[in-house]
Amino acid sequence: MSTSTPHKVTLIPGDGIGPEVTQAVVRILEATGVKFEWERFAAGAEAFEIYGEYIPADLYDSIERNKVALKGPVTTPVGGGFKSINVTLRKKFDLFANFRPIKNLPGLETKWPGVDLIIVRENTEGEYVGLEHEVVPGVVESIKVITDKGSTRIAKFAFDYARKHGRKKIHSIHKANIMKLSDGLFLRCARRVAEGYPEILYGEHIIDNTCMQLVMNPFQYDTLLLENLYGDIVSDLCAGLVGGLGLVPGANLGHECAIFEAVHGSAPDIAGQDIANPTALLQSAVLMLHHLNEEAAANKVQKALEAVYAERKTLTRDVGGKAGTSQFADAVLTAMG
Ligand code: NAI
Repeated sequence: MSTSTPHKVTLIPGDGIGPEVTQAVVRILEATGVKFEWERFAAGAEAFEIYGEYIPADLYDSIERNKVALKGPVTTPVGGGFKSINVTLRKKFDLFANFRPIKNLPGLETKWPGVDLIIVRENTEGEYVGLEHEVVPGVVESIKVITDKGSTRIAKFAFDYARKHGRKKIHSIHKANIMKLSDGLFLRCARRVAEGYPEILYGEHIIDNTCMQLVMNPFQYDTLLLENLYGDIVSDLCAGLVGGLGLVPGANLGHECAIFEAVHGSAPDIAGQDIANPTALLQSAVLMLHHLNEEAAANKVQKALEAVYAERKTLTRDVGGKAGTSQFADAVLTAMG
């Protein structure tokens, strides 16, 4: 329900295509009638130039205060340089659940129509945290930490979500045939949690097979429960099932704070050209509106977005159209009435 008090939201436009898609999304959010007070911050290389810090202290304070952030992608240097801003924020605010719904939009032809998957990715443990060091030149060690606590709470998140939203099936995706201890623990925790939800079918698939199964027949799955790195990779695969990275939203959720961001990265190959698809961030913003209990606005934006897709006239080029980022946003605004 909309209130007269504005929602204070920390806004991180990010870099690459981040500022373009963020601008489009903010315009749409502001047209919903919901009031926002944005606290805008740079992060990553851009922040370092301004503040001498990759994540300014004020940004931490802002998220701590507001409890909600909307974030564009931030570039992470490959093979060196500073630590991922995303990983750092997720750790700092203990945003243990990465929630990524994967669903077809109307009007888009894909290999499989009617895909409706939920990815629940553990967001604070595993290889993805980047605990690495050089033992001696030529030998590095990368440490994968999996804990009972971390695995149990993400499994519980997945089962609670499934119960609340009438999802029928959860598969844990693993490599416990090889990672017997770490992935073995992840599975044991998931099995233990599953016992408390007898109405939800529980299964387990090995990750490599899962990738093949998803491409061949995604309908055999409903909700996928994955460790951090596996969730990262399988999310992009699933994005490909429904039309690409320009579409798929995400939420990083903790007990206190939430950061909403698309699955995609900063897409340097198309940055600054007004051609990026803002749909993924817009659908992340819809998740944020639900989180803020702004149901009417969430439904309004989603309906307008789907109308623009169904009409097929003003789509961006990643999904076969010719429209630019801002033109697409204009079409959504028009559809909102
Ligand atoms: P990417 O997701 O940025 O791009 C992969 C491909 O998808 C590119 O061809 C790109 O043009 C396309 N694409 C992505 N988003 C799109 C959109 N909204 N509209 C149209 N096309 C889109 O992945 P990449 O290139 O591997 O990573 C680039 C940078 O982004 C890296 O520094 C990476 O670390 C960072 N990254 C940041 C994330 C975040 O801040 N949450 C998440 C993933 C990557």
